[in-house]
Amino acid sequence: MATDAADLEAARLKVEELRSLVRYHEHRYHVLNDPEIGDSEFDALYRELVDIEERYPELVTPDSPTQRVGGAVAEAFDVVEHREPMLSLGNVFDGDELRAWYERVQRFAEVEAFAVVCEPKIDGLAISLVYEQGRLSVGATRGDGLRGEDITTNLRTIRAIPLAVDGDAAPPAFEVRGEVFMPQAEFERLNAERAEAGEALYMNARNTAAGSLRQLDPSVTASRRLDLVLYQIGWMEQADRPASQSAALEWMRAAGFPTSPYVERFEDIDEAVAFCEAWVRRRDELPYAIDGVVVKVDDVGLQRQLGIVGREPRWATAFKFPAEQAVTRLRDIQVSVGRTGVLTPFAVLEPVVVGGARVSIATLHNADQVAAKDVRIADDVIVQRAGEVIPEVVGPVRSRREGRRAELRKFEMPDHCPVCATPVVQEGGGPAHYCPNPRCPPRVARSVEHFASRGAMDIEGFGEQMAARLTELGFVEGVADIYALPERREELLELDGIGDKTLDRLYEQIEASKGRPLRQLLVALGIRHVGGETARDVAVHFGSMDALRDASLQEIEGIDGIGPVVAQALRDYLDDNENVEEIGRLAGYGVRMDDEVTARGGPLDGEIIVVTGRIERWSRNEVERLIKELGGRVTGSVSKQTSYLMAGEGGGSKRARAEEIGTEVLSEDEFVAHLRERGWDGE
Ligand code: IVH
Repeated sequence: MATDAADLEAARLKVEELRSLVRYHEHRYHVLNDPEIGDSEFDALYRELVDIEERYPELVTPDSPTQRVGGAVAEAFDVVEHREPMLSLGNVFDGDELRAWYERVQRFAEVEAFAVVCEPKIDGLAISLVYEQGRLSVGATRGDGLRGEDITTNLRTIRAIPLAVDGDAAPPAFEVRGEVFMPQAEFERLNAERAEAGEALYMNARNTAAGSLRQLDPSVTASRRLDLVLYQIGWMEQADRPASQSAALEWMRAAGFPTSPYVERFEDIDEAVAFCEAWVRRRDELPYAIDGVVVKVDDVGLQRQLGIVGREPRWATAFKFPAEQAVTRLRDIQVSVGRTGVLTPFAVLEPVVVGGARVSIATLHNADQVAAKDVRIADDVIVQRAGEVIPEVVGPVRSRREGRRAELRKFEMPDHCPVCATPVVQEGGGPAHYCPNPRCPPRVARSVEHFASRGAMDIEGFGEQMAARLTELGFVEGVADIYALPERREELLELDGIGDKTLDRLYEQIEASKGRPLRQLLVALGIRHVGGETARDVAVHFGSMDALRDASLQEIEGIDGIGPVVAQALRDYLDDNENVEEIGRLAGYGVRMDDEVTARGGPLDGEIIVVTGRIERWSRNEVERLIKELGGRVTGSVSKQTSYLMAGEGGGSKRARAEEIGTEVLSEDEFVAHLRERGWDGE
């Protein structure tokens, strides 16, 4: 008996320890996106916990991390009445409308200026989480704002949601609110799985997330890797709510809830407008869809004073991005050959305006997608434009097929390259078809065009047409041949439309391009996954092509912001003999092979600095430029590599993150003192 009790006590202690470890690592992985241990190590901890709980079922508690998927299949969801209504938001569609909103608030509340908090608006579903005595008790949908559905069992399966928070620190009961969403990659994974199983594809990530949350069987929800971001405190019992939105976000983050890392607070509405407009262009950088930016009055006292009209608070609004879908007729499906030889079916459309641009061509990705979406020539189709990327065909409007079925035609991938007639290959049975001929003219033309483009070697006057023409005529068979063009002046002058003036200008441009820094050359070479930012990081780190070529995979991977896939792509590229030869030829023509490495020996040499908050002495751009000039590096988020956070006034989430991981925080004055100590004598 006595030993049984002692065993149970030992098991209880062990279970508690394992739970806190599992919770800690779930938080690191799912909330901070910064795992400390590998999957198998995590699995081992988790299994050990499951084992003990199986042996001692009396030790199982509902907030154990093993109990995420516990609920039985439901017949229907219960109704939950929200203690405070879940509001919706008014919209503005451009900077002027946002300024007008700000002025309305100023007039209404009779205030001069006030700070706002800007949060990317994730296109998902609003949910509410109630915690009592530190434990998640009810999770609900927004519903009509007053009453939602009780989806607690489903929400428990989302690993970013803590089942328990630190009960001592948290108020006895509180509610937090946020947005559940499906990351784009998960949406694509799910659709690929469905395509393979011959099931109908889902239309978009948002609806799929909604469907996943309303599953009566929680194990289905668990199999969809949903994620969430919290953005609001609903209510708190026996505690004062944080006095501002930025403090509320900080509180949630510190309590272990996932919040957006992209939130910023602005004292000035023009800066908020700039933030919103920047996100219109940056929206595709995120691994999930956003459809706008939510702008909120920061001060909760002012929020109360402003109040609500109908269902919309006066103290917040949504800056909506331009609409990005339209319907048009699909005239034909043709096939193009890309830079890497991939054959891409593309849609030839009746021209239509989507998201502010006229679109007459859209990609269809690959033959499998055409089949999966069941798009047929002569269909009316939905066209989508996501930021700067090529527009795509989402799918047919089936209801418009009635009476026109005879016109519709199915598409088939050609078995020979439509340009050079080489038999097409399908690599590894994957969905992509390739033209394997490296000299296939459009392949060469596209790499040459890319090489000369802006952000790459920036050779003005060497656009799509020139690239196509010179490759077709055999003047250029690889990118290095561009630099041989000046030697072929006489031959080129024989071509129609090319005169002395054109050539003089072109040669000048070609000559100038030899001096572009390594970061641009790396972009120009068209290495997979290597865009402007990666190229800059790599170039700054290694300083020269030689150093990069000598670097090991591990060294490349060690650069902040570079993952294993990108590192491998770089290594593969540099290990290929043909590429090495081409780079050698470029160097032979005098193309520059290094980069300005930040001022070595400068006062901030080797320091990696994050800047946040409002700074008095300089604008944000000025301070970033200064740091770079003095040899330091500026990055956007606080990590273990960060030397210190330079924090002006405010700067909530970055400051919280720094404090959490023990990164030093310097005030503006301390930063200036630090510079002076290191011999800086500027203003
Ligand atoms: S605040 C004032 N913040 O947008 C209370 N909403 O159009 C309204 N949403 O139902 C919500 N991100 O589903 C707020 N950072 C964010 C948001 C956000 C997405 C969604 C939410 C809401 C809808 C309102």
